[in-house]
Amino acid sequence: MAKTTKADVRGSLSPEESPLLPRTSPRLLLRDFVPEDFWDVHAYTSDPEVTRWLPWGPCTEVETQELLDRAAGYRVPDPRTDYSLAIVERSSGRVIGSGSLFTRQAKAGELEIGYCLARQAWGKGLAKAAAAGLLGLAFQGLGMHRVFGLVDPENPASVGVLEGLGFRQEGRLKKHTNLKGQWRDSLLFAILEEEWLASPHSEGWGQE
Ligand SMILES: CC(C)(COP(=O)(O)OP(=O)(O)OC[C@H]1O[C@@H](n2cnc3c(N)ncnc32)[C@H](O)[C@@H]1OP(=O)(O)O)[C@@H](O)C(=O)NCCC(=O)NCCS
Repeated sequence: MAKTTKADVRGSLSPEESPLLPRTSPRLLLRDFVPEDFWDVHAYTSDPEVTRWLPWGPCTEVETQELLDRAAGYRVPDPRTDYSLAIVERSSGRVIGSGSLFTRQAKAGELEIGYCLARQAWGKGLAKAAAAGLLGLAFQGLGMHRVFGLVDPENPASVGVLEGLGFRQEGRLKKHTNLKGQWRDSLLFAILEEEWLASPHSEGWGQE
């Protein structure tokens, strides 16, 4: 059988083909990326303020396409294990960021959460809302029992997102992450399924 190329993946899948997507709230929608998202995505992946605490970036156009190719690759395995999703502002239809659920450093039944937003979207509660949508996908959609996040101690906005959703800090991992050539501590935050289901933040997202 011919090997599936990244171009095949990009060209052949539409967001509707993943049964757990899209996920919707009054303000936001979470879906797989499509090629037309490129310039919205590049606007934030190329912004050094946005990528300061991220393992990649600021991105050239080629590097942004590589990120989109990697996101498309997550759609291939069956059953699917990883998600890198477009965060769409419903009022404008624009992609304002990305949110992820990764198996990368996770054990069975567990996923790592990640997110970033374009700078003009910061400070409006949108990251917290998008992360709530990701938690709904992880717990109610995928049946996970634990979601964790790893945050740089000097990234208070990201700590705010996780604490605001009820994540608990479980520890500080010394010189855990190589961030752009420098070993940095990571704060480990986690939330359990039962904690999420009892939280008021678990309301508000669904599938249309
Ligand atoms: C981290 C990031 C996604 C936060 O986005 P945001 O939309 O501004 O966050 P929200 O408006 O949803 O705020 C969530 C909570 O954090 C708090 N918060 C936001 N920015 C903050 C800051 N700079 N300092 C302290 N608290 C902050 C908010 O007050 C809110 O708390 P609340 O629940 O008590 O109201 C955004 O800053 C970003 O994209 N940064 C670059 C990428 C990044 O660092 N990603 C995370 C890597 S671990």
